[in-house]
Amino acid sequence: MDRAPLPDRRSFLAFLVAAGILSPAVLAGEDPLPAGAAWQDEGRRPGSPTVWTAAPRPWSEAPLGPAPGPVLAATWNWGPTVCEIGARVLAGGGDLLDALEQGINAVELDPAVSTVGLGGLPDEDGRVTLDAMIMRGSDLATGAVAALEDVPLAVSVARRVMERTRHVLLVGQGARTFALRCGFHPRELLTDAGRARWLAWRSSLSPRDNWVAPGEDHDTVGAVGLDGKGEAACAVSTSGLAFKIHGRVGDSPIVGAGGYADAAAGAAAATGVGEEAIRLAACHAVVEGMRAGLDPTEAVRRVLLRHRRVRPSFPGQLAIVAVRADGRVGASALRPRFVVGIHRSGRTGLYEVPPLS
Ligand code: GLY
Repeated sequence: MDRAPLPDRRSFLAFLVAAGILSPAVLAGEDPLPAGAAWQDEGRRPGSPTVWTAAPRPWSEAPLGPAPGPVLAATWNWGPTVCEIGARVLAGGGDLLDALEQGINAVELDPAVSTVGLGGLPDEDGRVTLDAMIMRGSDLATGAVAALEDVPLAVSVARRVMERTRHVLLVGQGARTFALRCGFHPRELLTDAGRARWLAWRSSLSPRDNWVAPGEDHDTVGAVGLDGKGEAACAVSTSGLAFKIHGRVGDSPIVGAGGYADAAAGAAAATGVGEEAIRLAACHAVVEGMRAGLDPTEAVRRVLLRHRRVRPSFPGQLAIVAVRADGRVGASALRPRFVVGIHRSGRTGLYEVPPLS
């Protein structure tokens, strides 16, 4: 089936301006981040167009039941922004992949988010390397990139892999070359803030360090959705664990680990320490749980409980958001502080997910 052509970069920026995400100055300058660009800060972290500062509502108030029409859910404090953009894309006639991709693009372009795209923290060599995946549930069409450098819109490159190649996953220099051939412009992803944190980390190293000490947790942007017409999808993008070994790939581009979608069952996306999601094939397990009839929260809980049984001393975070094919939404997390944005019935909110009990 032929698809409408993907929007070019200028159309995408025009969309972000129309959505109130970027200043109109962006279009004049033809650069998503011109010096002094006036980002919309109302209700957002200062200097950030995507991060919500509003306190999350309790999970007991989250709209989780089945619903007709589109349903979108996305991880962390930028989840509501992803959902808002996605909902506008769907309302404007875009498809579900457009919705998830463009919602995530806004986070990838936000330099204040230090775990995704531009402004992501680098690896131990000071290089920002990105992982991303996108998956359509009706035909299991999937594209992914790993260890991508110099191109912030990693999820869009993943989508090009899905739509313009017969492959699923491109890595490293090959992914970068492919992205440039598709028309993406290279740019430096390491910001001054990222470089300063990397230098501080380096100065804290000792000759006796190894690579097994637990590092920081990780806040990946992951989104799941239904279009209300039978399609389910997921999309994920991350700069991976801060100061990782160069070449480390996390869960986000691994189908079934960082994300999975099957229109007959639902979709799931993971965040946290990717190695743990890989070990469990976590998102595939959640989708299979929903296929068997589990509520999405229960499907996620069972996967996390299995993790806790097998790896009880793991100190970090692993969290998953999921949507079942009937519109039910769910989430659970090993640790506190996990928040998700949810959009349904025309409304978007941010909700705090209780940790696994
Ligand atoms: N969950 C993202 C990563 O571990 O790379």
